[in-house]
Amino acid sequence: MPFLCDVITLFPEMFNAITQYGITGKACKNAIFQLITWNPRDFTHNNHRTIDDNPYGGGPGMVMMAQPLEEAIIQAQTRQIKLGLKNTKVLYLSPQGKRLDHETVKMLSNLPGLILLCGRYKGIDERLIINQVDMELSIGDYVLSGGELAAMVLIDCIIRQIPGTLGDPESANQDSFTNGLLDHPHYTRPEQYKGDYVPEILISGNHAHIRRWRLQQSLGRTWLKRPDLFELKFAQGMTREEEILLEEFKESYKSR
Ligand code: ADE
Repeated sequence: MPFLCDVITLFPEMFNAITQYGITGKACKNAIFQLITWNPRDFTHNNHRTIDDNPYGGGPGMVMMAQPLEEAIIQAQTRQIKLGLKNTKVLYLSPQGKRLDHETVKMLSNLPGLILLCGRYKGIDERLIINQVDMELSIGDYVLSGGELAAMVLIDCIIRQIPGTLGDPESANQDSFTNGLLDHPHYTRPEQYKGDYVPEILISGNHAHIRRWRLQQSLGRTWLKRPDLFELKFAQGMTREEEILLEEFKESYKSR
């Protein structure tokens, strides 16, 4: 059974970016996930197919009305129920939501499906959010012109966690963040590029040494670039090996 993703959006074509290209495109073709869009404009009951109106209380911008969105959500829920899913979560992409992180992506990737609600304009009528939305998610502290790009970011992250999506099943487990650390550096041919060499250890063939070097680079990079993640990861302390590797990294960093 594919991961069922129903998206409520005024711009369904935008989602071709993930259904037709790259890893997510392949997952779609291989029925690892299925993406269906619902356009709220198709659920309007007025001749102009209007989906927004002025905000009560005045001010700039328009607000999406609750009714077309609610009917679109109900259609999406009905479809998922017919396919055997119960109580699919409705997620609203918004800068006011909980900030997306790897843990949330993992949690969502374990669900059988999702309904994603994409807003445009100033936002959507608060009553719809209160009554229909289970979770509000943000992809970062900045404002996009709509929820579509955020929904695509979320779907992409979820899909790569689903077994069978990536060529090498270990690949997702080795991404940055999976163990709370940033990824180590990567190199490929040629061995020498414009005078810079690939670290010798990587061509040594000694897998124990390579593992240690990679762990050291992950530790060092996280310590350097993301002290916040580093604190979180080692709040309960480090192993002896981690301590030694980090000390070595710090020494070589100082003498650079
Ligand atoms: N819609 C507009 N801005 C957004 C953001 N930062 N995250 C999620 N959805 C959004």
